Amino acid sequence: MDRLLITGGRKLKGSIAVSGAKNSALKLMAACLLTREPLTLTNMPNLADTRFLSQLLASLGVEVYWPKGDSECRLNAAELSSTIAPYEQVRKMRASFNVLGPMLAREGHATVSLPGGCAIGARPVDLHLKAFEAMGADLKVESGYVKAAAIHGLKGATIVFPFVSVGATEHAMLAATLAKGETILENAAREPEIADLADCLNKMGAKVSGAGTSTIRIEGVESLNGTTHSVMPDRIEAGTYAMAAAAAGGDVTLEGAPVQALSAMVDALQQSGVTVDTDEGAATIRIQRNGHDLKAVNVDTQPHPGFPTDLQAQFMALMSISDGTSIIRENIFENRFMHAPELSRLGADIQVRGKEAVVKGVEKLRGAPVMATDLRASVSLVIAALAAEGETEVRRIYHLDRGFERLEEKLNGCGADIRRVSGEEE
Ligand code: EPZ
Repeated sequence: MDRLLITGGRKLKGSIAVSGAKNSALKLMAACLLTREPLTLTNMPNLADTRFLSQLLASLGVEVYWPKGDSECRLNAAELSSTIAPYEQVRKMRASFNVLGPMLAREGHATVSLPGGCAIGARPVDLHLKAFEAMGADLKVESGYVKAAAIHGLKGATIVFPFVSVGATEHAMLAATLAKGETILENAAREPEIADLADCLNKMGAKVSGAGTSTIRIEGVESLNGTTHSVMPDRIEAGTYAMAAAAAGGDVTLEGAPVQALSAMVDALQQSGVTVDTDEGAATIRIQRNGHDLKAVNVDTQPHPGFPTDLQAQFMALMSISDGTSIIRENIFENRFMHAPELSRLGADIQVRGKEAVVKGVEKLRGAPVMATDLRASVSLVIAALAAEGETEVRRIYHLDRGFERLEEKLNGCGADIRRVSGEEE
């Protein structure tokens, strides 16, 4: 299994190009199932997760043309050979569950494994299922599978989500594009990836309005056409490198960054005393920190436009070297502090109390062997390692490869010293 060896203590200087957003790409890929015409996605991130979904789509009969390393992916779902997504595939990546709604809307039936829990919490899909039921689907949950049928097609409905769910909002939106009549999603998630999905669906001939607000209206249409869509830039990748630059110190410019989508992160960095210059027109964010102390800042994760849960671990790594005590509250997932004990191995002083982590800044972190537990947790260890004195070995980096494209190349391009070594026993 691959590991990363990181020698810390080097300032970062240079620029980093932001890749396409994983969490947008995964839903856009599922949208190909709604049409018999080809969907071409550009600015596609080459990641374990997006490659994995392309294999699942191929197993359903989608023609996938996506040469290795290419940022353009062509998906043609002219005919589906199966509407079953098995446990083995959905278990490996939760976003695979999103093939259910499009297949149900187009074919009138689909059988998809329940995803099960994961390292950051139980993560049920009850809101997704309630939305399909409200649209008239007949659902049975048997032997770990959801068997969904809507023989006469889905019908538009008003769905009021009891709390905000990104996945349920996107999934209901996908399915509603081909339902009969109007669907209204209330208390919808407002994440930028939802607006990106709506843009693509509208280019495919759907009638979606209000995406990016908490009320989304979808007027169902008979059929959708193919299109070409560029995946929005990855705000979490951009935010991660911003924190890496802040933690290691130096001067880094993020190119092609979704500036507006990152305002909560920019605020938190500025409060901590980091110089952050944004230019929305040029899509750049410049991060500078030269030896000044970092102030401790409290953050609370919230649905967009609040501080994103997907940047919580990275911010904790940064706060572990701040001058003071920071309280970090995780409100989205119940078990998303697995990085805290690993950061402590590097010398951080973190106490977890239920939903809160109390991070007392220390003067220095020191390199140590650590283990990644999930995608964002693993990159928080990389950030801490860049700021630490000496060498850190990060194990189980397959988590990193799920969501960060060419991470070593991007950071080493700014002067980091990160080496990937393979084949060693855990
Ligand atoms: C998406 O997950 C992202 N994943 C997550 O990114 C991200 O952390 C999360 O949104 C929040 O921003 C993808 O886009 C592939 P939710 P999702 O539905 O859609 C509960 C990463 O690291 N819930 O908004 O699964 C749920 O358990 C990943 O890239 C229900 O109870 O998140 C959670 O506590 C991790 N029932 C909360 O809602 C449901 O039916 C919010 O989850 C659905 C969700």
